[in-house]
Amino acid sequence: MTKKIIAVNAGPRMGWNTETLITEASKGAIDAGAQVDRFDLFRLDRYTGCISCFGCKKNRFKGHCICRDGLTPVLDAIRESDGLIIGSPNYLGELTASFRALYERLIFQNLTYNMETPSCNEREIPVLLIMTSNAQDTAYMNLLNNYKGTLERFIGPTKVFVSGNTLQLKDYSKNDWEWSMFNPEAKKQRHETVFPKEMQEAYQLGKELAE
Ligand SMILES: Cc1cc2nc3c(=O)[nH]c(=O)nc-3n(C[C@H](O)[C@H](O)[C@H](O)COP(=O)(O)O)c2cc1C
Repeated sequence: MTKKIIAVNAGPRMGWNTETLITEASKGAIDAGAQVDRFDLFRLDRYTGCISCFGCKKNRFKGHCICRDGLTPVLDAIRESDGLIIGSPNYLGELTASFRALYERLIFQNLTYNMETPSCNEREIPVLLIMTSNAQDTAYMNLLNNYKGTLERFIGPTKVFVSGNTLQLKDYSKNDWEWSMFNPEAKKQRHETVFPKEMQEAYQLGKELAE
């Protein structure tokens, strides 16, 4: 049977680092024979993070967030999927607010507060978590290890892929303020030499996720 993979873009910039890597991972999954459905969180109808209604703790709604908004189709699709590709840029040392809104509701619906069975997840869904950042690849290992641990407890086996030191602007010289924190030439060079390899890695990881 054809595997169903959900790809979630938790970044706002189409065609930039995060979206490109998600697209590559999706291509890998498609080439492995999977069907990929894509959600761009910045293009959805209005939504919020968890509103703490505890509806998902009621026996009849177990594992289902009952809050109805723009994230409902995303949560439903992930629940029925065979794999999740999710990517976000790093914003202020965290993943984006859009990522967090989905993450709160995705995890909390499976959290039971029961000692024997803390998660009511019935099916392990493998996850590929992609993060891009201005900082080096290794700068946010603690953050990503926390996400990996929680995703593995409540969703499924998780692989993390980081693309650090990304190109943030096409032309750093076209600004009326001084971006002295960065070396635009080094950034550009990295984007031309290292980033294409990262695209290949993302493709491979997407393929493996769907195999
Ligand atoms: C609001 C905002 C906050 C950011 N904060 C950080 C940060 O704390 N650490 C970091 O390494 N990069 C930070 N960045 C840079 C982005 O994570 C980085 O440029 C990323 O690759 C952007 O992804 P994109 O090209 O897909 O938009 C920030 C960017 C924005 C817009």
